[in-house]
Amino acid sequence: MTLKLPQVIGHRGASAYAPENTLESIHTAADMGIEWVELDVKLTKDDVPIIFHDEELDRTTNGSGLVRDKTYDEIKQFEAGSWYGESFTGIKIPTLEEAIDVLIERDLGLNLEIKPCPGREKETAEAALDILSHYWEDRSRLLVSSFEPVSLETAQHLAPDWARGLLLAPEPQTNEINPEWQNIADYLDVKTIGLGTKIASRDVIDEVTELGYSALVYTVNDPLEARKYQSWGVTSLFSDEPDIILENLLTVH
Ligand code: G3P
Ligand code: MG
Repeated sequence: MTLKLPQVIGHRGASAYAPENTLESIHTAADMGIEWVELDVKLTKDDVPIIFHDEELDRTTNGSGLVRDKTYDEIKQFEAGSWYGESFTGIKIPTLEEAIDVLIERDLGLNLEIKPCPGREKETAEAALDILSHYWEDRSRLLVSSFEPVSLETAQHLAPDWARGLLLAPEPQTNEINPEWQNIADYLDVKTIGLGTKIASRDVIDEVTELGYSALVYTVNDPLEARKYQSWGVTSLFSDEPDIILENLLTVH
């Protein structure tokens, strides 16, 4: 199985145009002709995998408090659209299962980011992979990624053949890339390294690609920056405005 990564991955769907991590955001990406989307998955208190980014409900819903303290029945009551725009009022937080339905219907590839609430690194990967194993067939269009090595280790045990991606952000103390990243990536046997723009220097990208990994960069909304990364050999860019980025890249076959 060869992983077929696209040049541009819609970040949280197409989050510059619809509320992030919602079914509407996935549909919007598909309407634009985007091939893949990235979605974040975490668990409710009663272990239902839902598509959601933050640890707290406050920024993107009319609820408040920690996601990990709410059951799915409680999560269902919240509304996740009006913070973004009046026309999206009433939109719900999707489950992973609901999102997969739409992805399959719209023929989209998926980068599922396992984004566990603290302490739920293993359980989140287990629950998400269980659902994926029931519904997802096209392994060439599935990447399971995470900042959390434990989540990736769990994925490696449960589904060794599915492509994994290690995500890296600047280390809080140094603002630099984790100096141990190569050991971690090697241990987890990942295919891709996802770099935040602050650590995606030319040297780092060269190192990533020389070691045989595909370099991915998040989050790129500026066409000039996108072209720069493309010329440095980056495989895929995550973007909130994937249509604009795609339009401004040179087509690579
Ligand atoms: O997977 C790339 C990117 O989504 C990682 O950062 O915070 O947007 O989930 P974040
Ligand atoms: Mg993400």
